[in-house]
Amino acid sequence: MQDTATSLGDHTPKARILVMPASTRSVSLNQALGKLLTNRIRETGDRASLVHLAEYPMPMYDGDVEQRDGVPESAVRLVELVKEAEVLILVSPEYNGSFPALLKNTYDWMSRVDRRCLVGMTVMLASAAPGERGGRRGLDMLRTFMTNVHATVPDLMLAAGSLSLDGEGTIAGYDNNTITEFVDQAVSAARATTKS
Ligand SMILES: Cc1cc2nc3c(=O)[nH]c(=O)nc-3n(C[C@H](O)[C@H](O)[C@H](O)COP(=O)(O)O)c2cc1C
Repeated sequence: MQDTATSLGDHTPKARILVMPASTRSVSLNQALGKLLTNRIRETGDRASLVHLAEYPMPMYDGDVEQRDGVPESAVRLVELVKEAEVLILVSPEYNGSFPALLKNTYDWMSRVDRRCLVGMTVMLASAAPGERGGRRGLDMLRTFMTNVHATVPDLMLAAGSLSLDGEGTIAGYDNNTITEFVDQAVSAARATTKS
């Protein structure tokens, strides 16, 4: 697919960024933060897709289930989405000082489709939490996980704390400069590695 990006001139392919919040609940801070990041990326003229993991159901990984039923179609589709993108942004809640089982299980299945699916890919990490620390401990664990699967994880991580949602599901309480800095880095990384 060839699109033009106004900020880069005609016929310049737009970068593609996949934003994946690791929460499936209907009123989710991390989905709201993911939506904010997606909108901000689109404002730069680049392409961003927001994944709702509830639309990619998978059982808990079990080798017997894999042998009996094969790899879930959801995992195949997610790997395809990842491969089309230049940058992946994981927006993860902190659960008990770590990242949720949802994220680990999703990747475990994806790795059964292609165990190298994140190798060398820039994966940026963000977290939204109601508390002040913004899920910083969970992000540190997530960095270790992503580094172990040979993703490239930039130093800059977004730990957005003291957040809330209004009645419309719009996120409030974030620092705009921090969001801008994070989006700029994601877009720069994606533009530097645009695939087509
Ligand atoms: C099982 C569980 C463990 C949690 N552990 C933490 C934690 O360690 N640190 C933290 O800041 N928030 C923790 N929380 C609160 C979550 O950050 C909060 O519920 C957040 O809104 C979840 O993300 P979501 O709104 O995107 O679903 C925990 C919540 C649950 C359900």
